[in-house]
Amino acid sequence: MAFLDELADKIDGEQELTPADLKSILELEDEAELHRLYALAYAVKRRWVGCRVFLRGIIEVSNICSKDCYYCGIRRSNPHTQRFRMSAEEIMAEARWAFEHDYGSLVLQSGEVSSSEYVAFIEQVLRGIKEMSYGRLGITLSLGEQSEETYRRWFAAGGHRYLLRIEASDPQLYAQLHPADHRYAERLECLKRLRRVGYQTGTGVMIGLPGQTIDHLVGDLLFFRTMDIDMIGMGPYIVHDETPLAARMTVFDPDRQLKLGLKMIAAARLLLKDVNIAATTALQALHPRGRELGLQAGANVIMPNVTDTQYRPSYQLYRNKPAINENSEQSRLALEQSVAAIGETIAYGEWGDPRHFFNRGGGSRA
Ligand code: 5AD
Repeated sequence: MAFLDELADKIDGEQELTPADLKSILELEDEAELHRLYALAYAVKRRWVGCRVFLRGIIEVSNICSKDCYYCGIRRSNPHTQRFRMSAEEIMAEARWAFEHDYGSLVLQSGEVSSSEYVAFIEQVLRGIKEMSYGRLGITLSLGEQSEETYRRWFAAGGHRYLLRIEASDPQLYAQLHPADHRYAERLECLKRLRRVGYQTGTGVMIGLPGQTIDHLVGDLLFFRTMDIDMIGMGPYIVHDETPLAARMTVFDPDRQLKLGLKMIAAARLLLKDVNIAATTALQALHPRGRELGLQAGANVIMPNVTDTQYRPSYQLYRNKPAINENSEQSRLALEQSVAAIGETIAYGEWGDPRHFFNRGGGSRA
């Protein structure tokens, strides 16, 4: 426990955590020690961002993707994925459902497509959602790498947050997970572009990847700090059987993946304090209470799926994605109960922008 006593003192004294501290956090294994770690992170969360959960209803707009990432089920060369793209009317119907149920914000996510037709389609959808909700729904985009002009157009049309995971902040590890034409430098440039345009900018990584060490994960946490990011969406890597990376993960230990995911959330909260951190669906795929455990380790955002049930089975980034047969109403009720069970409340009707964005001088509060 000596390390955790020291850590508690450091947190009380508002001292910066060092890379060695982060490494020690990620190496904790003992259950009692882990509980103490999560409690420390929870106290920091309570103090900096409060204990209310912000919702972003996620609409999985399309699984058509020009990328070929080795880990992802909707990669371009997976022939088993039945490709779809929702119509503007279908997206609007889901956005309306989220608005009527008082979800403060939406996420529009899709595979990466950069055609001028798609850029214009998203632009039109954004304007439609803003109009339908009288400007009251916050919109996060998660649509991959795009040109600065595209980011600007979508920002002007109403997107104000953007999530683009760096996936692995170490360029060599990144290169092992992607074909040669997926360039790390370009992804990094996109994150800078997003900030320049004025988005609240989020990034994240996959945790527990083949070839990934604890030092890589420490590097990921430091990367978040160096990039001064506002939001983190990160989660455990989960094998998808129809992808090349599956062959490199001969033993898949869900408990290890879950634990590592929770430790990363706790470490990120302790290091970064005022950012938004999502308890991602991948946690829920590993444990029925995965998202609640994420909240208890320091996360403060949940992204409930509001995609039409008919499309859910085709948007499988990894094995056993949860709630694919559940409709949005069932997802909402299940979530409400589980959030109440850990003594937190849902901040209905609020955008829930990351405090960090305002603390860094990123913009005026809407
Ligand atoms: N396991 C976990 N996360 C995955 N993603 C893609 N494939 C997987 C997988 N097999 C994540 C990526 C991407 C996000 C939308 O989903 O990090 O950025």
